[in-house]
Amino acid sequence: MMSVMELYQKLETQAVQVKALETAKADKTEIDAAVQLLQKLKVDYKQVTGEDYKAGCPPGADDEDTVDPWNVSTSNAKGVDYEKLIVRFGSSKIDKELVDRVEKVSGQKPHRFLRRGIFFSHRDVHQVLDAYEKDKCFYLYTGRGPSSEAMHVGHLIPFIFTKWLQDVFDIPLVIQMTDDEKYLWKDLTLEECHHYAAENAKDIIACGFDVNKTFIFSDLDYMGSSRDFYSNVVKIQKHVTFNQVKGIFGFSDSDSIGKISFPAIQAAPSFSNSFPQIFRGRTDVPCLIPCAIDQDPYFRMTRDVAPRIGYPKPALLHSTFFPALQGAQTKMSASDPNSSIFLTDTPKQIKDKVNCHAFSGGKDTVEEHRKHGGNPDIDVSFMYLTFFLEDDEQLEKIRQDYTSGALLTGELKKILIETLQPMIAEHQEKRKQVTDEMVKQFMTPRPLKVNF
Ligand code: TRP
Repeated sequence: MMSVMELYQKLETQAVQVKALETAKADKTEIDAAVQLLQKLKVDYKQVTGEDYKAGCPPGADDEDTVDPWNVSTSNAKGVDYEKLIVRFGSSKIDKELVDRVEKVSGQKPHRFLRRGIFFSHRDVHQVLDAYEKDKCFYLYTGRGPSSEAMHVGHLIPFIFTKWLQDVFDIPLVIQMTDDEKYLWKDLTLEECHHYAAENAKDIIACGFDVNKTFIFSDLDYMGSSRDFYSNVVKIQKHVTFNQVKGIFGFSDSDSIGKISFPAIQAAPSFSNSFPQIFRGRTDVPCLIPCAIDQDPYFRMTRDVAPRIGYPKPALLHSTFFPALQGAQTKMSASDPNSSIFLTDTPKQIKDKVNCHAFSGGKDTVEEHRKHGGNPDIDVSFMYLTFFLEDDEQLEKIRQDYTSGALLTGELKKILIETLQPMIAEHQEKRKQVTDEMVKQFMTPRPLKVNF
């Protein structure tokens, strides 16, 4: 099915086409045919959105939530309306049936991120599960834009989940470090970005990935060394127009050509023959991409171009955002130290940040709180516990007690602090054990353990 955005883009293209034909005084039958198609698209658009098509006004333009690879914000204290986002992006909801199927196919209890709707949306996951049931093969692809040394807990969400997927399905994984992307978008040198890629790789490796099944690569290193990877980049570039990336990413005429062509580089790892050393030249190994929902535009483009260059479309699993300490109106940001818990924070820093900055859904006084209870839906400490507290029953009890007023904000924060402190300390311990030699191993192009 075409998404609303795709339909809108078709309309934009068709409107331009009609104008061009009219200006060129083209054949009348040709103009009539183009006008007819435009009319038909307008009717479809009205049917799907309930609104008239307006040139230059993409669907959802007046929605309050902003979600794209560069900005995430909403005016709602509960955070982004993810149900609406599924409709706007044209993806599918991860429902109970899909979670049950993951359990059946993998033979493992679903990860808490799946049980709790933190990964909430997908594209074509049933297809990779079908492939897996048939011949046990697909691969995982995820990535990270290394814009600084400072990673925060929010950055770990896709990696924690990807590590689980790798374990339960026993499949290969490629991790793209987009040092080129960060150079193009930020005020950083190439050397800095390349350095951050290796530093961030240490935090990623500390999540426990299996070196026999994981290839981490810096775009700056790998793209220049792999003819197969670069061939796919060029193929993608040939089949996506400026108009299309403008529609998808909102690029303008004054954006650098580096930015405009970058999406092809993030798309390329979705195709298995970009890694001949792993997939022995096969072009058809299905790919599953776990990522935060803001990365979806890249993969809408990828899925659009895939059949045109003879490759399967990658499947996707989308996560919600990890809220900033100040509230779910925005996600954690590495550039605002008070909005985030960093992977380098000390136990005391964690305690102080949670106590001073974590937005509370509790009442102003103990008396009032006991009487009316707190609101866990807007309480950042509670939200963080939904990400990190493993025990479902304990979490539910906390939710009930907080709602009833039996549990105070200070007590809730204490539970969060005691959950985060050992978790971060353990991460720091594991990261310390990651040597430069290990980073080099993970980042060397080589065959991986594959079951096909
Ligand atoms: N663009 C992403 C970022 O800035 C990095 C990235 C590259 C990525 N490929 C990916 C993220 C695939 C998720 C999945 O963080």
